[in-house]
Parts: sequence; structure tokens; C-alpha cells
Amino acid sequence: MSFTGGDSVVVVVATDDAAATEAVNEKQYFTRDLSLDNCLAAAADTATVVDLTVDQRFIGDVGCVVWDAALVLAKYLDRQSSRLGLRRPALVVELGAGTGFCGLCAAALGARAVITDLADCVDLMVRNVNKNRLLIGDRVAVHEYDWAQTAGGDQQLADEQLFFGHNITEINYILISDCLYYAQSVRQLYDTVDWLSSKGATVLMSYEDRDDKRPLVDKFFKLIKSKFIVNEISSDELHADYRSPDLHLYN
Ligand SMILES: C[S@@+](CC[C@H](N)C(=O)[O-])C[C@H]1O[C@@H](n2cnc3c(N)ncnc32)[C@H](O)[C@@H]1O
Repeated sequence: MSFTGGDSVVVVVATDDAAATEAVNEKQYFTRDLSLDNCLAAAADTATVVDLTVDQRFIGDVGCVVWDAALVLAKYLDRQSSRLGLRRPALVVELGAGTGFCGLCAAALGARAVITDLADCVDLMVRNVNKNRLLIGDRVAVHEYDWAQTAGGDQQLADEQLFFGHNITEINYILISDCLYYAQSVRQLYDTVDWLSSKGATVLMSYEDRDDKRPLVDKFFKLIKSKFIVNEISSDELHADYRSPDLHLYN
């Protein structure tokens, strides 16, 4: 299409705006895959896909990528899925889920999962739920949840027993990967864990050693050990390719 006006020519190239916008949007993402040995969809023979694939963002806060500690926890869930009873189906809550990786993995293995993080991460978690529908069916719910809501908090006081429609007595596992990151929220994370596990849920938490985070790890473990029995999961129980001396998994 062209328009002539005086001695200048304006050329307008007509494009499919929606397709162009979509192409630009897609460039914000890169993927992380994880092969699962015990995927429910593969066992039921309803899909040949056994790779969990999540989108990560090139630009964003720490929650926009999958951290190594999440891979260790996810592969532990895969390896131990039968012993953990994920296909019962267990109810799993993931805190500080980022991309939603561990909760999505639990759901692919047969669990129902509630994956939560701050508002900034919600779109990415929803995107990853939609991306993995074949593996997870409708077993995953995404919610914004700030641990600050627990500490003395609105949600806890408003309804002590309910977490996004689930009675906390139903929760079997709480997943936390690499969330000992922020000085201001160590206590809030502890309070959230304390509340959500108060009716018997098991906490599975992984983290990576970082010198600058050592005081936060020490503070969290001091709090948690005052009330919980805490065990480091031995490297024998972890997947051989998804373990490292600087990555720790506790329950
Ligand atoms: C280092 S990232 C880990 C993300 C993911 N668990 C993983 O391992 O790939 C820490 C996560 O904690 C979340 N987070 C930080 N403060 C939080 C808070 N007060 N309430 C809920 N989530 C929080 C961040 O948004 C981020 O997704």
C-alpha cells in the first residue's frame, strides 16, 4: 500500500499485528526441560510426551528462571514418586514457585498441586500450566500468595483452616526450592510453613549453598529445628545426575 503526497512517498507495509506481537512475545522466553520416568500420562498411555517443559524469561526477577535446587527437588519427586504416594493423588502446595517447576513436576507424576508465588510470577506460572496440559490435566491451580499474608496475617486469621479452597488437613507435601533468599522474609516463610504443615503435611525443601545467604539459612534452620524434626535427604536417595554437594534437600 502506498500514498503519494507532494514529492514524498509513504509506504505502509500491512502485517498481521497479532502474529507480529506474538513473535515478539515469544522471544522473551527460553525453555527448561526435564524428562520424567514416572509421568502419569505416559503410564496411562494417553500421551507419549514425558518431558516437562517450562518457559523461563530472559528478563525478570529471580522467580523467572528454574534454579538448580528446583531440578534436584523435581528429580527427587520423580525418583521417589511411588514411595511418596503422589498418585493417591497427594495434595502438594509449592511456595515461592517461580516458574512453577516443582509443583508442575509433582502434578505430572500424579499429584494435585497448588503453585503459589508473588503477583509478578503468576502469568509465567499460568503460561507453564497451559504449556503442560497433556501431562498435568487440570490438577494444578495457580495462586498469588505472599508469605507476608501469613505472618500475623489476613489469610490465616480470616480462615485458619483454608488455603485456596483446600482445608490444610488435606495437604500432604509442601515444596520449597531456593527460597532462603531474602532477609525480610525468612520469618514469614517459616510462619507459612509452620501454619500449612500444622495438620501433618511433610515439607520438602531444597536450597543451594551461597556464602552471602548463609546467615539466612542458619536463621531459618534455627527456627524450624525448634519445632520440626529435620532430616537432610542423603545423596543416595537423589537422582545421580541431579545432585551436587552444594545442593541440599531436607524434609
Ligand atoms: C530464587 S527464586 C526460586 C524460584 C523457584 N522456587 C525455583 O527454585 O526455581 C525465589 C522465589 O521466592 C519468591 N518469593 C520471594 N519472597 C516471597 C514472598 N514474600 N512470598 C512468596 N514468594 C516469595 C520469589 O518471587 C521467587 O519466585
